[in-house]
Amino acid sequence: MSKNAILNSLLLIISVFMIAIVYNCKYSIEESDYFKPQVLATHFNGEQFVGSTTCMECHKDIYSTHLKTAHYNTSAIADSNSVKGSFKEGSNTLDLRDVAFEMKIHEDSLYQHTTLKNRNAIKPPSKFDIVIGSGVKGQSFLTWENNELYQLQVSYYTPLDDWVNSPSFPAYSYTRPIGDACLKCHVTFATNIPNTNKKNIYDRERMLYGIDCERCHRPSEKHVVYHRANPEAKEAKHILKIKDLSRQQRLDVCAQCHSGLREELIKGTPFSFLAGDRLNEYSRNHGTANPNEELDVHGNQYGLLTSSECFKQTPTMDCNTCHDPHKNQRGNTALFNSKCIACHSASSSVCTAESMKKDIMGDNCIACHMPTKASQAMQVQLAQDSVETSFNVRTHLIKIYSEEEWQE
Ligand code: HEC
Ligand code: HEC
Ligand code: HEC
Ligand code: HEC
Ligand code: HEC
Ligand code: HEC
Ligand code: HEC
Repeated sequence: MSKNAILNSLLLIISVFMIAIVYNCKYSIEESDYFKPQVLATHFNGEQFVGSTTCMECHKDIYSTHLKTAHYNTSAIADSNSVKGSFKEGSNTLDLRDVAFEMKIHEDSLYQHTTLKNRNAIKPPSKFDIVIGSGVKGQSFLTWENNELYQLQVSYYTPLDDWVNSPSFPAYSYTRPIGDACLKCHVTFATNIPNTNKKNIYDRERMLYGIDCERCHRPSEKHVVYHRANPEAKEAKHILKIKDLSRQQRLDVCAQCHSGLREELIKGTPFSFLAGDRLNEYSRNHGTANPNEELDVHGNQYGLLTSSECFKQTPTMDCNTCHDPHKNQRGNTALFNSKCIACHSASSSVCTAESMKKDIMGDNCIACHMPTKASQAMQVQLAQDSVETSFNVRTHLIKIYSEEEWQE
């Protein structure tokens, strides 16, 4: 062999070797879990959900405060940690007119046992599979029958720390099929399997519990992949910038769940709307031609707030003026007062009220200007013959109320 031929074949061997190394690296990078996070579900538009544990490494503070929010905890797999009601003998029953329930644990699973009183019969036990509600006010429970989802008759009511009949259930044995119209505000995403007879059939493996980051920020797989591959990049890529949206779009992020039931679907499913879209193109409330008409204090904070002078007379106020969506701020009176004063300190006195009560209430602005009211929509029957009692919810219609309406 000539010198040249030897050199050439050496070069060839080296380049084949190099190509193999490069290919191998690239291949192993693409195959690694780190660079390709596990996809938990795919939205109808093709964007992919990867879950908040993937956000943790780069958004540690937001991730850890988010775990304590009512949003994150508003739905979960049922177990003895997530279910607040008692399974102890003596406090594990609910007695209604025609039906009685006993809640029991069997091999780490939780069950509702049902006795039909007038027929002296027992129904097969129903398992607690999913918890709905963080427990601030109460919890309801869902059960799977194959891939069909139903609501259990017992709910849990926090003020009494006891079991109650589920809101709007009768005093006889009953289960309610649970479709998207119920799940849409309490889970991040669910994949309903279309069926002409039933609206409660789901892909059980593609249900994302809790209201997680990606419900407000859109499915974020591309963002995670990009930033993991480019750790030096400081500017956010492949993620919606909420602060650059119009006020209406920013409000819509919250209004999708806080502006009433929006039963009238215009397009897609209740999970089609994503942050950045225009909510009114997706769904509407029935009969709210007049936005001030019968605004219920439950679930329509958007309608109430937008009817307030504070909102109407400022160009920028939105939900995040007072709320940090990543933190649990319930009961932080000082923080909320400071939000009011941020706008109202300009006048010589913050508030014109000269009543003695103002001192007694410790300058708690919301006690007088955003009092709590009974919800018309959320009512529960506590026991056999009791009348229905309502949840109290804080009104977002900020105005001057009479002394009788102030809350102690
Ligand atoms: C490998 C790192 C990394 C991961 C993982 C990551 N991010 Fe980010 N993210 C960044 C960087 C870098 C920025 C830009 C700097 C900043 O705002 O913190 C950013 C910014 C953001 C922003 C602000 C966008 C803006 O400018 O308004 C949001 C929202 C966001 N990320 C959401 C998420 C969500 C949700 C997840 C999990 C599904 C996630 N990120 C996972 C690195 C990451
Ligand atoms: C339009 C959105 C929406 C729909 C639909 C909806 N909820 Fe809710 N739900 C809420 C909001 C918002 C709250 C918080 C109440 C408040 O403070 O205003 C809530 C509160 C609750 C609570 C109390 C949670 C707690 O920890 O205090 C339970 C339990 C509950 N919902 C169960 C259900 C069930 C069961 C369904 C379906 C039959 C349902 N919800 C449908 C928005 C919704
Ligand atoms: C209930 C809706 C909601 C949820 C859930 C949520 N965010 Fe946000 N996030 C927002 C809104 C709204 C803003 C913009 C706030 C503003 O106006 O500045 C924001 C801003 C951000 C920003 C940029 C500004 C900042 O505060 O640094 C990052 C990063 C972010 N979110 C990450 C996350 C991550 C990570 C999670 C989950 C662990 C998460 N968010 C969960 C609504 C939400
Ligand atoms: C996917 C539906 C959904 C979205 C989107 C959503 N919320 Fe909620 N929100 C709920 C539900 C459901 C609850 C009741 C949770 C519970 O206690 O179980 C709730 C509770 C709350 C609470 C009471 C928290 C507490 O500690 O009791 C506040 C405040 C709130 N939301 C503000 C917002 C704001 C601000 C936004 C927009 C940035 C927003 N929400 C977006 C469904 C939603
Ligand atoms: C973004 C600025 C802003 C914030 C935050 C704000 N307000 Fe206002 N508010 C206004 C403006 C502007 C008006 C209308 C002019 C006026 O009456 O001062 C107003 C009006 C009012 C009124 C008179 C309403 C009427 O119908 O006559 C009350 C009461 C009030 N605000 C209380 C509060 C309370 C309590 C808070 C905190 C929970 C608050 N505001 C937060 C800007 C704000
Ligand atoms: C002017 C300040 C302010 C604005 C703006 C505001 N909120 Fe609130 N919100 C409050 C205060 C104060 C509370 C009571 C907190 C507490 O009980 O600790 C509250 C409570 C809530 C609750 C829990 C209600 C209950 O009684 O369980 C929800 C849900 C909520 N806000 C949603 C929203 C949404 C959605 C928006 C935007 C449409 C919004 N808020 C805008 C001040 C505000
Ligand atoms: C004890 C109940 C009470 C408390 C607490 C209270 N207010 Fe008032 N506020 C009133 C009443 C009553 C009026 C109407 C007085 C009148 O008609 O002269 C009023 C009037 C107002 C007005 C409209 C009149 C004006 O000054 O322009 C604003 C704004 C206001 N309050 C803001 C606040 C803020 C901010 C706080 C918390 C720092 C607060 N209020 C605490 C009862 C209260």
